[in-house]
Order: sequence, then structure tokens, then C-alpha cells
Amino acid sequence: MLKKLLFALALLATIKSYSQTAQRFFSKEKLTQTGVYYYPEHWPETQWERDIKNIAKLGFEYIHMSEFAWAFMEPEEGKYDFRWLDKVIDLAGKNNLKVVLCTPTPTPPAWLVTKHPEVFLQNNIYQPMEHLSRGNYSTSSDIYKEYTEKIVTQLAKRYGKDNRVMGWQLDNEPARDIDFSPAAQEKFREWLKKKYGTIDALNKAWGAAFWSNMYNNFDQVRIPNQRLLYGVSPHALLDSKRFSVEQLAASLDFQAQTLRRYISEKQWIMTNYMTIGNNVGYDPSRTKHLDFTSYTNYPAAGYNDNGSKSFRMGSMTPLTFSNDYHRSVKGVYGVMELQPGQVNWGPINPQPEPGAVHMWLWHTFAGGTSLNCTYRYRQPLYGSELYHYGIVGTDGVTPSRGGLEFAQYITEVNKLRKQYNAKKAAPQKYVARKTAILSTMDNLWDQDLQKQTTQWNPFEHLMKYLRIAKALGAPVDFVREDADFSNYKVLMVPAYQLVDQAIITKIQKFAENGGQVILTCRTGHKDKNGHLWEAKWAEPIYKLIGAEVQFFDLMMPNTEGKISMAGTEYNWNNWGDILKPFAGTESLAKYTNQFYAGQTAVTKVKQGKGTVTYIGVDTDTGDLEKAAVRKVYADAGIATEDYPAGINVEYRDGFWVAVNYTSQPFNLNLPANAKILVGEKVLPSPGVTVWTE
Ligand code: GAL
Repeated sequence: MLKKLLFALALLATIKSYSQTAQRFFSKEKLTQTGVYYYPEHWPETQWERDIKNIAKLGFEYIHMSEFAWAFMEPEEGKYDFRWLDKVIDLAGKNNLKVVLCTPTPTPPAWLVTKHPEVFLQNNIYQPMEHLSRGNYSTSSDIYKEYTEKIVTQLAKRYGKDNRVMGWQLDNEPARDIDFSPAAQEKFREWLKKKYGTIDALNKAWGAAFWSNMYNNFDQVRIPNQRLLYGVSPHALLDSKRFSVEQLAASLDFQAQTLRRYISEKQWIMTNYMTIGNNVGYDPSRTKHLDFTSYTNYPAAGYNDNGSKSFRMGSMTPLTFSNDYHRSVKGVYGVMELQPGQVNWGPINPQPEPGAVHMWLWHTFAGGTSLNCTYRYRQPLYGSELYHYGIVGTDGVTPSRGGLEFAQYITEVNKLRKQYNAKKAAPQKYVARKTAILSTMDNLWDQDLQKQTTQWNPFEHLMKYLRIAKALGAPVDFVREDADFSNYKVLMVPAYQLVDQAIITKIQKFAENGGQVILTCRTGHKDKNGHLWEAKWAEPIYKLIGAEVQFFDLMMPNTEGKISMAGTEYNWNNWGDILKPFAGTESLAKYTNQFYAGQTAVTKVKQGKGTVTYIGVDTDTGDLEKAAVRKVYADAGIATEDYPAGINVEYRDGFWVAVNYTSQPFNLNLPANAKILVGEKVLPSPGVTVWTE
């Protein structure tokens, strides 16, 4: 009896936790659903039915609308018009298409900004933005918040219970450079008061004793403006960045909570973030009320001019990273915008290689996406995005090459759905190399504020370790400090400058319990305000890494640092921590030139049942780092692969997916029981192969 009760309770707990995760919105059997952005407001009403029918014919499963349509929803203040949207939603429903509706906040109507110019955000010369663009409002404006609440409420009341609407996107690619408007200044002071309580605490955190930067009270504080100032406190700058992204996150949370008052539990809420890089003005992990996040990506917009055709295919890293990053935020994720063809906004906008769009789609699938979508259905005939391809061309009906590649992908996904087997467990060899990368925006921003060498690239350092993990065939999650590390075999901690004792202890425990930890240069020398420790350099991590970080050195562009590791010589050029291992710690690599020749660059120490490796050096090629990381997996008995750069292989829901971003074909080494479902054993360039084992 007791057993039965316990079983029932456990079952209930599972159902409850399942129902709390975003997975509840998506049926696993469907794997992913593919949709397209449609702008009915750009086209005559007489064409809507034809367009919707053609969208359905190509196999799309939903349309995405209205993120820029405020002026159509509320042509005059308080006068709403949703008849046009009703009509398109009816047409979608009749053609078995679902709808993603968006809140139209990126584009305030002219009447609003004319009546209240104070809602504009201000740049670093204190100029307000103007009408005729988008994303031009201040996320700190209470007036904008009021108008937002009104329009979002109207939308929520009208469509919140409409079962043709599957979910909501908030705004569009929410991101902000620092806003210097009076509203933002006011909110910054409030934010600081809440964070620090007293002006003394603020002065201390900002290191304001330096250059007599002291404030007497919060009213004197302004958002630090780097354009006007020399040598601004990095602590103040870090806070202004934190404030800025938190304002943005709060404005998204406000929209989500407003929607939530009226919408059905079956409708989800998310937003579509731009590709992450250095110094971005958003942090997907800082919102609290969104069900999941999605990303937008345009792989071929004039990048990668290395003489190969990769300028037409993009590189593997952005999509691999975006998949792993966004999946890590809430467990499920979507890809809202994926380039359908040539774009218009790059410095040079080449045609994508035939097959590239198809490969990108499968690449987003490989990471586990629940939603795929593309910007946009029709190529525009007017407006700032002329020359931007759509799923159909300028005549509004003829599919572009990318459009046909979308259709092909959709057909293939439908085929795969039939093969889906809920009982199939993930392969042991894949699970056994599960890797977490600990990373926060704050750490990236902080490195960016004082790089110490023009050769340091915070985001690129992080990406290097992602690429190494992928070359070993490891599935990766990007985790934050509150994650449960015990789900992983390996924890990478790249250039993690800002630490406190709690995170050091947590990493130590993970190792002691059998985890493999890899820390890299620039880790642990600052507290969370970005102050150096009043201790030896990076001393709080000495016990963890079993070594002292004596000092660091930086190499000039035309000078090579040299290192020897396991009999192989390596060059290093960006950053070198010079280490002194304690007794019992192995020295895996040594500097062989410069005045510290003979000293250690890489250490490894046992911690309980696990190990901690410290890779103190950053190189352009990443060869040394890769060899050191490979050793960690090998020593721990974790079987790995050896994929070349540009080959990404992932597993999801019973399917293996390989993509090829190199300029040559790639011969996959498949087991005898592999059954190929899409593509061939030899991956073309670009190409995709999907198989089951
Ligand atoms: C995205 C944006 C879309 C559209 C697209 C053009 O960044 O979210 O609205 O402008 O770029 O490629």
C-alpha cells in the first residue's frame, strides 16, 4: 500500500515538473514545427488568401505575424482595428496553419511618439531617437509602459483564448545599447539604491575613492558615458550594463505578465534574441516570465572571406552555439529567423551556396529545436529591406531556391516523425561525454571592459572551448551558477574572472564527486564587483587548481611564445598565466621561451574522485587547448570522436544529425547498424546526413 502511495506521489511529481516545463507546449512526436513570417499589412487584402494557401502548400505549419504592426492595430490613440488580423487568422485556420502573434512594441506609431517624444531612448550624445525606424523606445519609460500595457491587453483579450494562436512573441530581437534618456537615468538611480542601499556601499563597490569619484548621495549619480569620460570605473560600467539588460528583461517580463492575465495556458510566451557575441545588450537568462527563448540567425552575410566557399555557408559555430545556449535557458527553444537566401544588410551580401539553407535548417534541428521559422515569406518591394530574399520572390508566388530548400526540409521532417520512437534512450557513448560550459554575460562584459590586450576576444575564447567539445563529439549545455552540475561528466569554466567562494566550493565539490573540471586562463582573480582580491593573484582558486598563478604575460602580435606539452611544441600568442604547481599537482605543459622558460602553463590535480585541469594559455590556433582538453576526457576514460573543424554531429530524439560546413565532402564513419534517413554516408559540402542506430 505504502509502495503504491509512494509511486503515485512520484508520478504526480513527475507530471507536475513536466507540466511546469516548456516541453508541455510541444508534442515530442512532431519533433519540430516549421513556420514563416508573414506581413499581411504589406500586401493588398486581395492577395492574402492566395499567399496563405501557398504557404500551406509548401508545407509550413504556422505563420508569424504582427511584430511591427502597431500602427495598423491602433491607427489612432485608443481606436483599435483588429479586423485585418481576424481575417488573416481565419484564413490561416482554414488552411490548417497555426499562428504566432507578436506584441508590436518595437515600432511605436507616429501619433504616440509625437504626443510623447520623451519615450525615445537617447544615445551617448543625449540625442533622442526619432520616428521612421524601430527599437527606438526607452525600456525605462513609464509612459511607454502604459501604452504597451494597453495594446498588449487588447491583443491578449482578443486572441488569448483563440486556439488557432499557438503562442506569443514579445517585441522583436530585444536589445539595447546603453540608453541615456532622463527616464533611464532616473531608473538607474533607483536600481542602484535597491542594490546598494547606501551611497557608501555604492562608493565602495565602484571604487570611487579612486580619482575622488565619491558621491554624497544617489541624486548625483548618472549613467557613466564612455564617450565623454576617460578611464571610467569598470565597476560602474559593469553596473550600467547590468542595469541596461535588466531594464530590458523587466520590460519583457512586464509584457509577459500582461498577456498572462488573459491568455490560455496552452499559449506560450517567448521572444527572439539576436545572435550572441561580444558586449551584447541583452541577457536571455535574466527574464523570469517567459516560457522559453528563441534566436535569429543569418549565417551568410559577407563573413568568412578565407578564400574558401565558406562565405556562402557561414561557419559552424554560431548555430551550434545558439542551439546549445538557448536550449540551456529553459530546456526547449525555437529558431525564429533563419536566413532563407540573400540578405540586404551585410557589407557584402552574397548568395548562399545551394544546399546551405537546407543544412542550416537541419543544424537547428540537431540541437533540439521545437520551432523553426524563417524571415520572411515574400521578398519586400519597398522599405529598408529591399534586396532581402524571402521564401517567394518579387512576384509573390515563385519560390526562391531557399524556399524550395525549406519545403524539402519540411517533407523530410514529416518522414522522420513517422520514425519517432518515444522509448528510444539516448546512446550511452553520447551521454557519457555530456559537458557543461559555465558562462555568464557578466563575465564576458567584464573581460571586454579591460581586455589588457587587443588580442583578447572574450566571446571567441568561449567559442574555442565549444568547438573543442564538439570536435570530441560532446553534447554541450551552457550553464549558470545555479545549475545542477551533477548532470554532467565534464565542466568547462573558460575565463571566469568574477567569482565568489560559493561558486569555487561548488566547482570543488563537483570534482570531488568524480567530475572533470577544466578552468582556463583569466579565471578567479576578481570578486563579483570586478575588484581584485586583497590576496595573491587569483588566490581563491589555488586550492581548487592545486597551483599558484604567479602572474600573466601577453604576447606582441609579431612575437611568438612557445610551449612544450607531452613532447609537442606549440605557439601561444594571446594570454599566458604563469603557474607554480603545488606538491601533488602535475605540470602538463611548460613555457620554453621568454624569461619564465621552464615554468608551467597547464596543470592537473586530483580532487577527490575527479580532477581539475587549469589551461593557463590562450592561443589563436587552439591546438594546445584542444590537446589538453582531449587528455582530460581520455584520462577519465570518456570515449570521444575526432571530428574536423566544421563538422558538427549531434543526437536528438532518436536521430543522429551531421552537418558539413567545410569546403570538402566528409566521409562519415557510421556503425554497421546505421540506417540513413536523409542524405548519404558521404556528406557533401554543404550537406546533412540524418541516421538512426
Ligand atoms: C532581423 C530582424 C528582422 C529583419 C531581418 C532581416 O535581424 O529581426 O525583423 O529585419 O533581420 O534580415
